[in-house]
Amino acid sequence: MALLNRDDWYDIAHDVEWTLSYVEEQAAFPVEWSGTAGVPKEAWRSWEEPFRVSYRDYVMVQREKEAGVAGVREALKRARIYEKLDPAFAAVSHFHMGALGMVEQLAVTMLGHFVRFAPSPRWRNLSAFGMLDEIRHAQLHMLFSHDLLKHDARFDWCQKAFHTNEWGIIAIRNFCDDWLLNANCVDAALAAHLTLEHGFTNMEFVALAADAMEAGDIGFSNLLSSIQTDEARHAQQGFPTLEVLMKHDPVRAQRVIDVSFWRTFRLFQAITGTSMDYYTPLAKRKMSFKEFMLEWVVDHHERTLRDFGLQKPWYWSQFLNCLDHGHHALHLGIWFWRPTVFWKPNAGVSRAERLWLNQKYPGWEDSWGVLWDEIIKNVNRGENERTLPDTLPALCSVTQLPIGTHWDRHHVECFKTEYNGRAYHFDSDVSKWCFDLEPERYAGHLTMVDRFVAGLIQPASLAGVLQWMGITPDVMGEDVYNYRWAAEFALAPQAAE
Ligand SMILES: [Fe+2]
Ligand SMILES: [Fe+2]
Repeated sequence: MALLNRDDWYDIAHDVEWTLSYVEEQAAFPVEWSGTAGVPKEAWRSWEEPFRVSYRDYVMVQREKEAGVAGVREALKRARIYEKLDPAFAAVSHFHMGALGMVEQLAVTMLGHFVRFAPSPRWRNLSAFGMLDEIRHAQLHMLFSHDLLKHDARFDWCQKAFHTNEWGIIAIRNFCDDWLLNANCVDAALAAHLTLEHGFTNMEFVALAADAMEAGDIGFSNLLSSIQTDEARHAQQGFPTLEVLMKHDPVRAQRVIDVSFWRTFRLFQAITGTSMDYYTPLAKRKMSFKEFMLEWVVDHHERTLRDFGLQKPWYWSQFLNCLDHGHHALHLGIWFWRPTVFWKPNAGVSRAERLWLNQKYPGWEDSWGVLWDEIIKNVNRGENERTLPDTLPALCSVTQLPIGTHWDRHHVECFKTEYNGRAYHFDSDVSKWCFDLEPERYAGHLTMVDRFVAGLIQPASLAGVLQWMGITPDVMGEDVYNYRWAAEFALAPQAAE
């Protein structure tokens, strides 16, 4: 039997929709899940696919991608690539697998919601392919981590991290619970597809894949590239959704995008900012995190806003300040609280690295170099215990990240709101604004510090917190080079000239 070409049947098949007669529309597509409040049903007829795909095409292409990944995986096992990696870059893969592996699995659930509840049959249909993509991504992370588990127990955190209370993971999980798992389809498409995937991860995977290849981590690079090709496709589903919403509720579109952009950016500062500007070996760095953000993320975001008739967020100048400083502050915090993370952070502040940081960020020395000088002095005096924490940092009730990390050293203030008799603290006026817009969305959550203060973490000590976070001695973070980099400052402890 002859097969029809895809374009001969696609226009009929993609619109499989019928009038419900056994149940009410609202029962089958509750507005709480579909997110269609304020948008008439007919409006979704104009939701046009940003790409066309049939199951046959999809399977054919994905099969090729899988064969490519499998080939590299086998070659890598023989070449023992992992053993030759710079330990600072190996830490990037520990961090990445733990922080993002399970996000792929959460995306499966989000796309499952779209398959079932999205207000357009075309959107539901495309999401089935997106769901298959995300299953593949989650499985690839697990597969590569499983291969490497014999080298380092940290690869176990690819699967395990999201089942622990590690503080950085709570920050990521909090975002994902909010925008991937519990948001309605329309809001999730704008926050996850358009902002997180299309705006950030798609580009980040390209950059990180290039860095990984440069650093010799061919397997990791290949994994990222294979995933990125899927992301670039399915993340486009956010655009037709935005187009429909702009015609009926532009205020909501602006709010969802502005809130999710800020939250995504803060997480990326912690994950990508630290990886690009500190963990990647100096000789292998292609661009700074700020340069990457300006060229790929900011420019792209501004264009999207302009194309759809949206405004730049009101917090744009705060965002630009944060872009200069926030990830340096987060990096310093992560390194200082290194026993609370499951990878080995690289301080990344040797003389040569500081020179690079000062070139890329002219305010770096004034804000962060002086603090590193204190750490360096303590290390060189053999007083390592003074470079380790015995308390917890105050955490933001929206981002779950440490307070005092949104700007330079001279702006470490805490922002506060009172709601229903409870005080909430924030890392920035932007996070406070997110909370004040929809307090119910965030009010029920207790930060790690709230739990500690309430006596929910026992014993009430740093050791008790580490135990509560699931950090065991075999994965506990420590300086990746065992402080070797501090020795060159022993004679002249001041900053690199
Ligand atoms: Fe994915
Ligand atoms: Fe995705």
